[in-house]
Amino acid sequence: MPGRRLHLPITTERLVLRDLRTGDLDAMHAYASHKDVTRFLFWGPNELEDTCGSLSAFIAAQAETPRIIYELGLTLGEDERLLGALCLYRGDHETRNDAEIGFVLHPDCWGQGYVTEAAQALMSAGFTDLELHRIWATCDARNGASVRVLEKLGMQREATFRSSRKVAEGWVDEHSYAVLRAEFT
Ligand SMILES: CC(C)(COP(=O)(O)OP(=O)(O)OC[C@H]1O[C@@H](n2cnc3c(N)ncnc32)[C@H](O)[C@@H]1OP(=O)(O)O)[C@@H](O)C(=O)NCCC(=O)NCCS
Repeated sequence: MPGRRLHLPITTERLVLRDLRTGDLDAMHAYASHKDVTRFLFWGPNELEDTCGSLSAFIAAQAETPRIIYELGLTLGEDERLLGALCLYRGDHETRNDAEIGFVLHPDCWGQGYVTEAAQALMSAGFTDLELHRIWATCDARNGASVRVLEKLGMQREATFRSSRKVAEGWVDEHSYAVLRAEFT
């Protein structure tokens, strides 16, 4: 199972999820440096050198075997500008066979169902191509849009960790969600 890889690109009716490229820097920095985007995240808002460093690391991870980190660009067409990114990070524990999913989108594109559509396809690929058993996610409990997306994806809230995440405003509660392969439709 560790040798299995996602088959990329992943396409949906409206969207493409593909590996990041060096030419994505400007579009990636446009959302990574936006304070409304990173408000509930562990990182950001980025300086250009932060985004540069992250993009280089994500591109380097594409060649790793086994591949643990999938940070994928979200576009309307394979050669179009990035709207955002979705990630799938595989656990390195053989007895778990799980992965964490995450997502981020430029605010100009919020509210059009893009992330739900893309995440659904990424989860499906994770359960088939990688034969994952479980996909999980965490989010700042105040992040209403993220909570809504995770629920639309059919994930179940399994826990709320009190004061477990430190963000710019201080310590905040964090929800933990998951879906099992047997539950995913
Ligand atoms: C979270 C995020 C990725 C959602 O992307 P998106 O493409 O706009 O999501 P969708 O359009 O698929 O769904 C958003 C849902 O949240 C709802 N929503 C938006 N803001 C909300 C809020 N403050 N409270 C509750 N629900 C909210 C929308 O109405 C929609 O639900 P609906 O389809 O039932 O109407 C996007 O807002 C984002 O990038 N946020 C900043 C980064 C981030 O927080 N990432 C998540 C880290 S865990």
